[in-house]
Amino acid sequence: MQKSTVEVSQEQLARQKTAMERVRRLSESIPHQPLAFVDTYGCQQNEADSEKIRGMLSVMGYGFTQSESEADVIVINTCAVRENAEHRVLGNIGALVHTKRAKPSQIIAVCGCMVQQEHITDTLRRSYRHVDLVFGPQALWRFPELLEKMLTERGRLFETAEEPGVIAEGLPVRREGSIKAWLSIMVGCNNFCSYCIVPYVRGRERSRRPEKVIEEARELIAEGYKDITLLGQNVNSYGRGADYGVDFPELLSRLSELDGSFLLRFMTSHPKDASEHLFQVMAESPKIARHIHLPFQAGSDRILKAMNRNYTKARYLELIDMARHYMPDIILTSDVIVGFPGETQEDFEETMSLLRTVRFDALFTFIYSKREGTPAAKMEDGTPRDVIQARFDELVALQDAISAEKHAAFVGKTLKVLVDGETGDARYPLSARTNGNRLIRLTGAPSAIGSFVQARVTDSNKWSLFGEIL
Ligand code: SAH
Ligand code: SF4
Ligand code: F3S
Repeated sequence: MQKSTVEVSQEQLARQKTAMERVRRLSESIPHQPLAFVDTYGCQQNEADSEKIRGMLSVMGYGFTQSESEADVIVINTCAVRENAEHRVLGNIGALVHTKRAKPSQIIAVCGCMVQQEHITDTLRRSYRHVDLVFGPQALWRFPELLEKMLTERGRLFETAEEPGVIAEGLPVRREGSIKAWLSIMVGCNNFCSYCIVPYVRGRERSRRPEKVIEEARELIAEGYKDITLLGQNVNSYGRGADYGVDFPELLSRLSELDGSFLLRFMTSHPKDASEHLFQVMAESPKIARHIHLPFQAGSDRILKAMNRNYTKARYLELIDMARHYMPDIILTSDVIVGFPGETQEDFEETMSLLRTVRFDALFTFIYSKREGTPAAKMEDGTPRDVIQARFDELVALQDAISAEKHAAFVGKTLKVLVDGETGDARYPLSARTNGNRLIRLTGAPSAIGSFVQARVTDSNKWSLFGEIL
């Protein structure tokens, strides 16, 4: 069996390190500190990647700005999961032609999932001539070398050849906040759900060594992070194909045994790989959030099959029952797609009935978006757009009502919450998260930010809870 983990060699990493040192000297040789603007689209994996890009830029002597016109280097980290996201990105990249005209020395880099598609790189090459550097997710760890090349040789560089993907340990990271942290445990995806572009742009599934993950978690806890989210496209297949002898429940269990006051979260979980053992581990440790994001995508077995999801509605409901058996108070969230090719009214009703049965606390709802190169893109669909939109609206209305009811049930309760920032709203100036990751806005003083506190829930709506610190 092919080992799914290919680590970047020490030599290759050392080469990036010396490239970073050389760029740093370049940065220090100019009168003002050079500035970078990093913009991120898409999922948490992309957020985590951007933290690495910022980490590398920081080591290379760059400061950061929120202004495109001020920046010496612009990095746009893109997402390809749905078409409207791509349109937005292309629009914003197009607008950079003006900043570049005003500042010709500016380097514009585009990276992330979108550029791992040939038609996109072709478009960038032909119609976005102000873009200098293009590199895919698999080339991210080589960013120092690529940037150095841009600085010393100029010209355009496209680093998007198809690669199975590697794991690069030890890249510098510059995290956004000081309370919550992303911790990537695996990258890539092998599932090939028929509608999804991710496996094509992110490469094959590969898992970090458990000792590396544990070491990073230890560092985060020592630095004071209180809320750590383990990231992967499908965390439940952690370790598969590698010889670590540690699966996801085992990794989670080991992490939960670390000393300190913190909460572990994880996402995303694929239902086909969720196990009873996972729920047992979750139920046993107060350091693991009682929340699972378990995307179901569709309620109809026929559609689930066409989606290549490898579970049925009955199996999904069985998993939900199992989770609730071990943790009656578990918070459940999910993703759903409306308008998959060939989805009929009956199929859609199955999705609605699943919603009514499970009663998710929150749901991420999407209209199917055709992704060129995926099997679903070749499937016939005669459903008119307005019918799909009407179904979508009906589904959102049902979920809004359920979310509002679920939130209302918290009113009067006292919960342990983590205060994570300010809201800018004078009535409820603090924002916090419950154990199940529900947003709660609180009265109280900013000194509570960064601490777990007891809060009494006083009010709610469909999006959030409101309360006071006790
Ligand atoms: N790996 C995660 C999902 C990553 S993409 C998982 O399997 O759970 C996040 C969500 O985007 C998916 O769960 C799905 O609901 C949605 N999505 C993915 N491809 C899509 C497409 N082509 N059209 C509409 N929604 C899509
Ligand atoms: Fe896409 Fe499916 Fe992989 Fe999730 S599990 S990233 S939906 S292919
Ligand atoms: Fe988008 Fe890539 Fe994430 S396609 S959803 S940024 S893995």
